[in-house]
Amino acid sequence: MPNIQRKGKIMTQIRTPMVAGNWKMHKTVAEAQALAREIRRGLPASLDVDVVLAPPYTALSAVAREIHGSPLALAGQDVFWETQGAYTGAISPLMLADAGCRLVIIGHSERRQYFGETDATVNKKIKAALPVGLTPIVCIGETLAQREAQETLAVIASQLSNGLLGLGPSEVGRLVIAYEPVWAIGTGRTATPAQAQEVHHFIRRWLQDQVGAPVAEGLRILYGGSVTPENIRELSAAPDIDGALVGGASLKAESFLKIVALGR
Ligand code: 13P
Repeated sequence: MPNIQRKGKIMTQIRTPMVAGNWKMHKTVAEAQALAREIRRGLPASLDVDVVLAPPYTALSAVAREIHGSPLALAGQDVFWETQGAYTGAISPLMLADAGCRLVIIGHSERRQYFGETDATVNKKIKAALPVGLTPIVCIGETLAQREAQETLAVIASQLSNGLLGLGPSEVGRLVIAYEPVWAIGTGRTATPAQAQEVHHFIRRWLQDQVGAPVAEGLRILYGGSVTPENIRELSAAPDIDGALVGGASLKAESFLKIVALGR
């Protein structure tokens, strides 16, 4: 495949960048509809980035209607691994797909911190999401204490090997990985492009060793953690950063659209 020059990056294979907005526990149904509508209206006419919205469960169907027929894709923020049954409060992969989701965030550090998510449950959720056609956005990342103890790459390797346990190359090839250093989430303290690139490159090399270069080269690795319109250009210029998972700055159409415009 010929080398392709894109925004200063020499790439041997095209990876369509992705910018995903994780709205977390924000927005009523009416607010979510309004935000989705504003984002839809503000999208550039020709879009060379995949744009994903992840509203809370209660707003999924309403947002699905708002973005119908647009290039925007819908994602759940979490999922349970069973299809149906007596699991009060849980939402199955089938239910997400039925509500219009094409993707699902799995293993977000807030799920790990507040809701007991582990690499083992991440693994079960990935294995449940793939068969119904959902694309998992698998989140990994180290805490500040782990970074300061020089454990970052070991933590990442362990999250990958346990989280992706038992997945073959064709399954891994259907994932999106999001590197979200816990210390950068919601803190205004972004990883430098060099810090993020080091980990993204490590992730791609790790995947290459496990599932081969073609899969690893085609897989998108997003950065998340205090991404803003001001820092996205620098971050996305790094060769192994393929877009962003955005929290706070995705809650306003103006800042999210700027990130979409610059995040490729
Ligand atoms: P912030 O962009 O608010 O730091 O959140 C990042 C995040 O957790 C996205 O999933």
